[in-house]
Amino acid sequence: MSAATTSRQLSHVWPTHSALDERGVLQVGGCDALELAREFGTPAYVVAEGDLRERARAFRDAFAVRHAGRSETFFASKAFPCTAVLRILGEEGLGCDVASSGELHLALRAGFAPERILLHGNAKSAAELAMALDAGIGLIVLDGLDDLERTEALARERGVRQRVLLRVTPGVRGDTHDKISTGQSDSKFGLSLGDTRRAIDRLAGSAALQLDGLHLHIGSQILDLEPFRAAIAMLHGLGDDLPVIDVGGGLGVAYTAAHQVPSVEDYVDAKVGAVEEHLGAGKVILDEPGRALTANAGVTLYTVQTVKRNVSTWVAVDGGMADNLRPMLYGAPYEAEVVGRHGGEAACRLAGKHCESGDVLVHDAHLADPRPGDVVAMPATGAYGHAMANTYNGVPRPPVILCRDGDARVAVRRETLDDLLAREA
Ligand SMILES: Cc1ncc(COP(=O)(O)O)c(C=O)c1O
Repeated sequence: MSAATTSRQLSHVWPTHSALDERGVLQVGGCDALELAREFGTPAYVVAEGDLRERARAFRDAFAVRHAGRSETFFASKAFPCTAVLRILGEEGLGCDVASSGELHLALRAGFAPERILLHGNAKSAAELAMALDAGIGLIVLDGLDDLERTEALARERGVRQRVLLRVTPGVRGDTHDKISTGQSDSKFGLSLGDTRRAIDRLAGSAALQLDGLHLHIGSQILDLEPFRAAIAMLHGLGDDLPVIDVGGGLGVAYTAAHQVPSVEDYVDAKVGAVEEHLGAGKVILDEPGRALTANAGVTLYTVQTVKRNVSTWVAVDGGMADNLRPMLYGAPYEAEVVGRHGGEAACRLAGKHCESGDVLVHDAHLADPRPGDVVAMPATGAYGHAMANTYNGVPRPPVILCRDGDARVAVRRETLDDLLAREA
């Protein structure tokens, strides 16, 4: 893939250093989007590797500059569970947050040292806990009293002393969609403040579990920093002598050019400032960004199959709710462009190919004269798209293509029709 001379920069929704070349064709990671579509087919998730690396460094550097003590950034791997992506973020010095044995398997395969892995989960099975204990992972985040008892029993059986954190539900709601809000009192995640006190006392006498600190995560796609501060303030007086505080993830991203998002530096300043003010200056601070590392590094390429003009103009592509569930789950807004004719005026609905009327990727797209055969690029699809992909209607899942300095490589191949049969008895 040759890097063409670039001529026009794009908005902050697109991967950094993306541009339109002199023909108006999108270049991502130095690769030509039309050539990518030709070579790898569509739909395809395209990820700009340089963008991922820069965002990882931005988190690490911001914590190092703002916090005098030790800090560590863990990638919340649920946002993009793919070993190539994990390996890149590991190379940039991040740890890995996993929430199932599958994500743990990927993290180990990606080469993370077990002590740089942290396990979450509100309903961890004994098998998942056993796998984590046997792998010797760094931290297990206990999500409730049953989880505590089960983890302790399994650690005792193995004769190990496992480092743990307690996940606290602070009773603070971030301004985000209900389905991804987790900090409110009535949440399925974490322990109430009262149960946290009880668990701290309980763990004081535990030979098998070593309580290092507390954890909180109030939700995802949060653009106002104040709830992050308020949630941390709620932990004042809890576990003061514990060395570690994990402040979760949640920084929101821009899905359309109209979205303005806080900088990583401001996000880090809000969290570190609140920790220092309410919990003390000497804590080791852990953070767990997911979306903010990967969303804007990714672009999905589709091919237009049909254009129908009735009440609305319906532009239907070869993907949809099987490769990106976010518009259907959360009403998430996106934008899209015809590759090579960027910047259209005509309003249309960008629809998927699946058998539900709700399968609409962008309700208010503006595409330039869309026609069957056009390649359409949808930016900001690098988080929770590949992660939530499914095979509805028997549509094989798309490949993940990593692009860097004009080179493209397949990180995950396209699923085949035979793959669809692979689990059948
Ligand atoms: C415990 C925990 N940490 C971190 C994250 C990452 O959140 P985000 O992708 O919004 O940064 C999540 C997301 O669900 C989570 O549940």
